Amino acid sequence: MIVENEKIPFDINAIRAEFPVLKQKIYGKDLIYFDNGATSQKPQVVLDAINKYYSQENSNIHRGVHHLSQVATSHYEEARTIIQKYINAPLQEEVLFNSGTTAGINMVAFCFGELLTEGDEIVISAMEHHSNIVPWQMLCERKKCILKVIPMTKKGELEMDVFDNLLSNKTKLVAVSHISNSLGTINPIEEIIEKAHAIGAKVLIDGAQSIQHMKVDVQALDCDFYAFSGHKVFGPTGVGVLYGKKEILDSMPPYQGGGDMISKVTFEKTTYNTLPHKFEAGTPHIAGGICLGTAIEYLSKLDIDAIQKHEYELAQYAEQELLNIDGLRIIGTAKNKTSVVSFVIEGIHPFDIGTLLDKQGIAVRTGHHCTQPVMSFFEIPGTIRASFAFYNTKNEIDIFIKAVNRSLKMLR
Ligand code: ALA
Repeated sequence: MIVENEKIPFDINAIRAEFPVLKQKIYGKDLIYFDNGATSQKPQVVLDAINKYYSQENSNIHRGVHHLSQVATSHYEEARTIIQKYINAPLQEEVLFNSGTTAGINMVAFCFGELLTEGDEIVISAMEHHSNIVPWQMLCERKKCILKVIPMTKKGELEMDVFDNLLSNKTKLVAVSHISNSLGTINPIEEIIEKAHAIGAKVLIDGAQSIQHMKVDVQALDCDFYAFSGHKVFGPTGVGVLYGKKEILDSMPPYQGGGDMISKVTFEKTTYNTLPHKFEAGTPHIAGGICLGTAIEYLSKLDIDAIQKHEYELAQYAEQELLNIDGLRIIGTAKNKTSVVSFVIEGIHPFDIGTLLDKQGIAVRTGHHCTQPVMSFFEIPGTIRASFAFYNTKNEIDIFIKAVNRSLKMLR
């Protein structure tokens, strides 16, 4: 689809041309991909890097004296450095590869959790993804800790005055999403981090929905952990990153035991490897790590502030146009939000709209978006969610609005 006459601050046609999947037709219609919150599409450089790794470099890393192993090892570690620089982590060994945000949060819940004792408190928020709820519930059960939840308003904004009251000298960790996957709210994480640190608690930021949309500087934020997924940031599935401050990671026991994470093994006692290897047992997703580096390098060449502005405008435009539809309600109307537009339509099940949009070539997500407590709070079964990336356009939103109206004609 060639886009004309759109005032956007970068060459959208050139960008779109780099994403082969966008050139497809679905049921005879140009694909409109509005499910970026679930996974993003991959630019040609990432596809080429995957092909290059498996066709020219495939081997195991950190283990072989042979040429291929050394090439793969050096590319894997270069990817770690690219990611370190992109998020401005002080040290390369503070960047841990894993399988995604869920793995990163579970790792912190288990390993940092080992340092907690009965009665310690963990604070999360009312708008968390299940992956930033369940690991803490499991930890609380295991260590007899207490889970507290920052409530939100009907706009989908955190009640920060209540947060102040939840904090105490028992609070050991605050774990919150940077951007809500179901509401699009950008949470005031700078304030959360500052307040948590003031009482001595550590902070984990779930960055699954933020790193692809805005500049993330872990030193400026001063967060203790920041987790994100490769597949949402234009890289492969099955790979992700947990950034953690070195002194905290050093104080935590390892997560899984196995190859690469050890220094010396005897039947009597095992000593552990240094960071980052201590938390990377077993053969990792080598191609994934390398190609996540490629994706981050690709992103680093783009103007992230222009991307943020473009996506904000897309979301604003989509909301404005959607609100012309009778009986439509936007779920998540925070002042500070971006990239996600969730909505419900009176008398219509989200699944039905999603199915009819699909038949018109439009991919959205419907349902609870792995945030059942958010849906319960709004007393709805789920939403229809359009989530944008920088390759989306206002022209696509116009087609989407027509398609929603066409679907409603069939359903009403
Ligand atoms: N967490 C992903 C989403 O929001 C899968 O769709």
